Amino acid sequence: MYKPLVVVTGKNGQLGWEIAQLKVLNNFQFDFLFIDKEEMDLSNPASIPAFFKQNKPQYFINCGAYTLVDKAETEQDLTRAINATSVGVIAAECAKIDCTLITISTDYVFDGNGTSPYLPNQATDPLNFYGQTKCEGEKLAVENNPKTIVVRTSWVYSVHANNFVKTMLRLMKDRDELKIVADQVGSPTYAADLAEALIKIVEQLEGGNIHYGIYHYSNSGVISWFDFAEAIKKMAGLTCNVLPIPTTDFPTPAKRPAYSVLDKESIVADFGVKLIDWKSSLRKCIHDLK
Ligand SMILES: NC(=O)c1ccc[n+]([C@@H]2O[C@H](COP(=O)([O-])OP(=O)(O)OC[C@H]3O[C@@H](n4cnc5c(N)ncnc54)[C@H](OP(=O)(O)O)[C@@H]3O)[C@@H](O)[C@H]2O)c1
Repeated sequence: MYKPLVVVTGKNGQLGWEIAQLKVLNNFQFDFLFIDKEEMDLSNPASIPAFFKQNKPQYFINCGAYTLVDKAETEQDLTRAINATSVGVIAAECAKIDCTLITISTDYVFDGNGTSPYLPNQATDPLNFYGQTKCEGEKLAVENNPKTIVVRTSWVYSVHANNFVKTMLRLMKDRDELKIVADQVGSPTYAADLAEALIKIVEQLEGGNIHYGIYHYSNSGVISWFDFAEAIKKMAGLTCNVLPIPTTDFPTPAKRPAYSVLDKESIVADFGVKLIDWKSSLRKCIHDLK
């Protein structure tokens, strides 16, 4: 039986790994090929066409990225190659074989001066180099392949790989007190929920519900990093004292947006993706980590 091929990059990252864990993949209408650096090195854009000579996917989900936001300020050539140039090449290769590209981007494309949720078509103005390259990647993807969907997300965590939730759990066990920034607000995203949303989009496209363009996805709810840390502590039953601090007390090489809440209405309206409350997903993650 013919099954469309879905290629997923970043198989060892939070999101790529969560897509591979989805139970539904076992008896699914698609074939999946999960890849990482060995199969496609995003730091070497010129090597990408060779992959497409061997593989002709119908859908390409790009979860691979350079995600070390602070290090990106100094590793600029590498960051741009992975987050922008390669995404452009992937999009061009996808266009040649009529393949739909879904590429993941970030809330860090916005400057964070907003006071209401950012709409997908709102002007971008990244504060840091990582955000700048993700923004460039979005543009190249859309320009090079008309069948492109950009899904911006925020504050991603998972049971797998490194993230804020796992770092908090480790530090809260080791320390009596932690100071966490309280004046940056946004919405966490459980990578498992985003993974399901992406597969839902692929199913919808395959079923003939066709939309392209920029979309937003995160869990629902708006909190600060301090609120997030407090909730992690409570749900994990830890006793560490968590203190709120302003961003000015925690300087980092890369600036972060103060407000990075994404408006998710269009992904719900166009693809029927379900939004899940951040608290219930965090509870699930902490339960699974135990
Ligand atoms: N994490 C967040 O809070 C966050 C927030 C907003 C948006 N996003 C976006 O969401 C997407 C998924 O993020 P994530 O959290 O799953 O990231 P992640 O855990 O850091 O995973 C990134 C993946 O990219 C791969 N990668 C890095 N360099 C590569 C290269 N040269 N060639 C091929 N693959 C390479 C990594 O491989 P190795 O593991 O082998 O290095 C890893 O599998 C990314 O587009 C990211 O920008 C993330």
